[in-house]
Amino acid sequence: MVKEIHIPNGVRANNVDMEYFESNPKPANLDAHSTLARTFIEHHAEQNRRVALVTSGGTTVPLENQTVRFIDNFSAGTRGATSAEYFLESGTNCFLDYMMFNDAGTVVINTKYQHQMGDVLAKYTKARKENALLLLPFTTVNEYLWYLRELAMLMQPLGPKSLFYLAAAVSDFFVPAERMVEHKIQSSEEFHVRQPNGTTGQPPAAHMEGKQLLIDLDPVPKFLKLLVDRWAPQSMIISFKLETDPSILAEKARSALKKYSHHLVIGNLLNTRKWEVVFVSADGGEKWLRVPAGRRTKSVSGLLPDTPSTEESREPAVEIESWIVPEIEKLQTEWIGHGEQR
Ligand code: PMT
Repeated sequence: MVKEIHIPNGVRANNVDMEYFESNPKPANLDAHSTLARTFIEHHAEQNRRVALVTSGGTTVPLENQTVRFIDNFSAGTRGATSAEYFLESGTNCFLDYMMFNDAGTVVINTKYQHQMGDVLAKYTKARKENALLLLPFTTVNEYLWYLRELAMLMQPLGPKSLFYLAAAVSDFFVPAERMVEHKIQSSEEFHVRQPNGTTGQPPAAHMEGKQLLIDLDPVPKFLKLLVDRWAPQSMIISFKLETDPSILAEKARSALKKYSHHLVIGNLLNTRKWEVVFVSADGGEKWLRVPAGRRTKSVSGLLPDTPSTEESREPAVEIESWIVPEIEKLQTEWIGHGEQR
């Protein structure tokens, strides 16, 4: 039976939204991408399917409107991309593992991996054909926030069948539009000018003083709170917590869960994120997933002539996302079973 669904037009605003979204510009592609997303979500809602929003990659903070310089938040995008593959049940290794140069210097698929690569290609083609995958690019933290709000609203009719898997690295600080200079900040003193900064006459967030570049960033409002409470109240929401100090990881994850009251925080450390993650859940539970070491690989130095080839490193035996995603799927099945609101 085709379920009747209604996706709200546009986005309902509230005061906290208004402040940020009124003063920071809407991305140029938002409406076009919103239309694509609406069609995608309606298609899957009609089939009574689950839809996961997987955010992935870093978010930049431009220092100039015509952007030459920006601050970035680290993320290679692997967590999100690999997880999306497992959500699509297309488990695979890195594409680059399958490739090599032939004698003519052309990149070809290593014959050893023809079969696996064919498998990946078939699964990818199937996902595209079945309209199971929609890719929406973002670069800046502003674009990320506008997209997150828009997509959350569009996904509301899916209720507990919608999942937010927030693997992107979201900047905590930004340059608000009203304090962003238009042109490239000049480093040489003879070209220093106090550029006009938006319409409010506020001091620019980034400017030169003598030889120093001074940057004064505003905090990005904590959008996870809005997502949980207003934009996606019935959805399953999983956030990631990135730290570098192991002694505070679990505590920070617990604190995020307490603050935002969502389903699960997955904690990871920058240096070990491919090897281990900790699931911290609302009932206070703490569970580590640790993948074993796999085959030995030569380090880069070992590949260079005249350098010792003894340095070897280990890679994880499996992609940790192949363990994370089935756990999330189980949790969501329970969430759908309860059919509750937070
Ligand atoms: O891409 P890879 O190289 O594979 O790396 C994956 C990863 C390490 C980036 C990923 O696993 C990860 O940890 N992503 C979350 C990074 C992050 O933003 O962590 P955080 O501790 O700064 O923020 C925690 C949460 O707060 C995030 O879910 C974020 O959505 C949310 N947040 C952050 C800032 C903000 N202003 N509002 C928010 O709601």
